[in-house]
Amino acid sequence: MTFPTVRLRRLRRTPELRSLVRETRLSPLDFILPLFVVPGENVREEISALPGHAHLSVDRLVEEARGAFQDGIRAVILFGLPEAKDPTGSSSLAWDGPVQKAILALKRELPELVVITDVCLCQYTDHGHCGVLDQGWVDNDATLELLAATALSHANAGADMVAPSDMMDGRIQAIRTRLDEGGFHQVAIMAYSVKFASAFYGPFREAAHSAPSQGDRKSYQMDPANRREAWREAELDAAEGADILMVKPALAYLDLIRDLRERFPHPLAAYNVSGEYAMIKAAAERGWVDERAIALETLTGIKRAGADLILTYHARKAARWLG
Ligand code: PBG
Repeated sequence: MTFPTVRLRRLRRTPELRSLVRETRLSPLDFILPLFVVPGENVREEISALPGHAHLSVDRLVEEARGAFQDGIRAVILFGLPEAKDPTGSSSLAWDGPVQKAILALKRELPELVVITDVCLCQYTDHGHCGVLDQGWVDNDATLELLAATALSHANAGADMVAPSDMMDGRIQAIRTRLDEGGFHQVAIMAYSVKFASAFYGPFREAAHSAPSQGDRKSYQMDPANRREAWREAELDAAEGADILMVKPALAYLDLIRDLRERFPHPLAAYNVSGEYAMIKAAAERGWVDERAIALETLTGIKRAGADLILTYHARKAARWLG
């Protein structure tokens, strides 16, 4: 059967009909809000590369999280900026580091908010790489030890979930083992499984003061050209015990979101990264695009591709737009 019997426009006639047959619906429950925590008190410094986001001390971060909770957001991911950096990123596992203190405060003030932590060394190392260096090469196995200890410190503070973003081989296994030995069987792992060496992280590195001082991340993050390798990364993380898999960035990698959705039963997250956000903000500022329409269309596309969860800097605004 075909035209004129078939007319697809019949179901597009009114907003109500369109809503009735809509295949993908966004909800604030899909979103994970990134937050940047710094030392000190009563600090709120806007991040110029990420309009609408700020470096927050723990007290102001709790305020921000409370606002997000009121908007309908139920999960945040924490990134820390430490007081001091050194070659091994040792401040990443300090019991009184900004992230550890933020977890404690959030679980005390907003116990229902899901607190996820980014686990990586790049904000904590003086060279800005995601692991420790051995003659300029990021030493995989020496880094695992530090990542596991960092994850344990987050679990100790009360994190619901840890999210390693370093791309070392074997980190999920190393972290799972350490958490279980520490009695934290209930702490989940969201693996940045398919994370590319991407130019879309530019604004984040400014926000997190984590740009490598020398070289790039191509010897550990994935080559943007590779699809089959992404399946292998996800397979390994799944086998090592990841509870949630992630694709990052989102927009240039929608094919991989679809691939992982079809290949794995795990909940799937996508990271709508800083560069993707910044491009929308910059174009909207110039009046070239409508921020609300384009952000919701983008988030819908990421979900339609197969993501269950979306880490996005638009989380609060999008939650409010969705009502
Ligand atoms: C840390 C980390 C990065 C991002 C999340 N965790 C930066 C990087 O890998 O260089 C990027 C997030 C974003 O761009 O929004 N490894």
